[in-house]
Amino acid sequence: MHISVIGCGYLGAVHAACMAQQGHTVVGVDVLPEQVAQLSAARPPFFEPGLEELLGESMSSGRLTFTSDIADVAGARVHFLCVGTPQKPRENAADLRYVRSAMDALVPLLQPGDVVVGKSTVPVGTAEELAAQVHQAQPGATLMWNPEFLREGHAIEDTLRPDRIVYGLPEGPAGVEAAAVLDEVYAEALASGISRLTTDLATAQLVKVAANSFLATKISFINAMAELCEATGADVTMLADAIGHDDRIGRKFLNAGLGFGGGCLPKDIRAFMARAGELGADQALTFLREVDSINMRRRVRMVDLAREMCGGSIVGRRVAVLGASFKPHSDDVRDSPALSVAAQMQLQGAKVVVTDPQAIDNAQKRWPDLAFSASTDGALEGAEVVLLLTEWPEYVGLDPHALTDLVAAPRIIDGRNCLDPQQWREAGWTYRGLGRP
Ligand code: UDX
Repeated sequence: MHISVIGCGYLGAVHAACMAQQGHTVVGVDVLPEQVAQLSAARPPFFEPGLEELLGESMSSGRLTFTSDIADVAGARVHFLCVGTPQKPRENAADLRYVRSAMDALVPLLQPGDVVVGKSTVPVGTAEELAAQVHQAQPGATLMWNPEFLREGHAIEDTLRPDRIVYGLPEGPAGVEAAAVLDEVYAEALASGISRLTTDLATAQLVKVAANSFLATKISFINAMAELCEATGADVTMLADAIGHDDRIGRKFLNAGLGFGGGCLPKDIRAFMARAGELGADQALTFLREVDSINMRRRVRMVDLAREMCGGSIVGRRVAVLGASFKPHSDDVRDSPALSVAAQMQLQGAKVVVTDPQAIDNAQKRWPDLAFSASTDGALEGAEVVLLLTEWPEYVGLDPHALTDLVAAPRIIDGRNCLDPQQWREAGWTYRGLGRP
């Protein structure tokens, strides 16, 4: 198949490389010339395990190219819409400007039989508007919705072997034909037995935000339990293990700690609430406001705990922050809980040094006033309290005995409950976890 991928950020770059790997001819389009130049040199503009190799392979096979000229999609019959839908500044709603400009550029180029496949996370109702725009410009073309569920750090496996594939289709023969075209695109995944669910357009758009809202709720639920554990002396990690044994609950996404961040969960639950308000159904999602507040409270709790550990004040105290990305195996610092805590502590007078294996460049751009160290030892040297805020394997595997002489005071707060408290205490450290005694 000849495919175009419009928008080559996180989602689009990975999708384009994976589709080329599956044997399709793919042209990736992006409005940022720098992004196109980097991708054309097989250099991913962000860190994602395996992507550089995949880009290299697909580009040397000649099946994958990148361009900033939308006219280059002319030969493609399937057009994936993968542009970002960030949160609007000072508002909760999603900013659809990139979706609109991409569609305005694409529709004049559509041919009869073309299929436009929306993958971006959009407020429900957007696809119906875009379907009308496509129909008006080219009645022989069809728009369908095919949400993605990829996790950063696992983006390639999630794209090639997703848990499920959802097709949101318009009614009638156009929908049936569009589904057949996408079946050809996903032939390899479908042949391996991955479930394919067909829905109407509205349901397909809702599947994505409903899934992310559920995941966010699960994390905030266990973090609310962590607050109760802190009030009672109980241990939230044992609690999560015990309730997670119930198949109906499940242990995944029950890791209490500093809470969720990144480019998806926080903005998606806020945009979902905003959209529900527009639809007159805001009451249905008021619980998400609480999910958001529980999540933000964890950051405040972390700063309070650090202050408590430093004897009541963090002013002038040397604080080491391990981790800047919003989660391990990613250099993404969007809405990073770790950086938010680091910045808050600096604002309150602490001398903070942040380190991270991948995200320092991005972190520095976003938080230029923070101090960074390229090495873990550099961040730890002279620290009066250590905060482990992103559970990179290199931090989880640190040997507490080897670090005692490096720090000024052996005190650590495990913001992701990923260390063995006994091991650290036996090495002479004062250890605190979130929601642990
Ligand atoms: C998420 C969804 O998982 C994915 O399906 C969707 O397509 C995009 O949004 P991602 O943002 O890459 O993916 O990260 P994810 O692995 O879901 O983690 C999100 C945040 O939750 C991270 O900050 C992580 O540290 C936090 N988290 C996750 C917890 O605090 N506890 C957990 O148990 C799990």
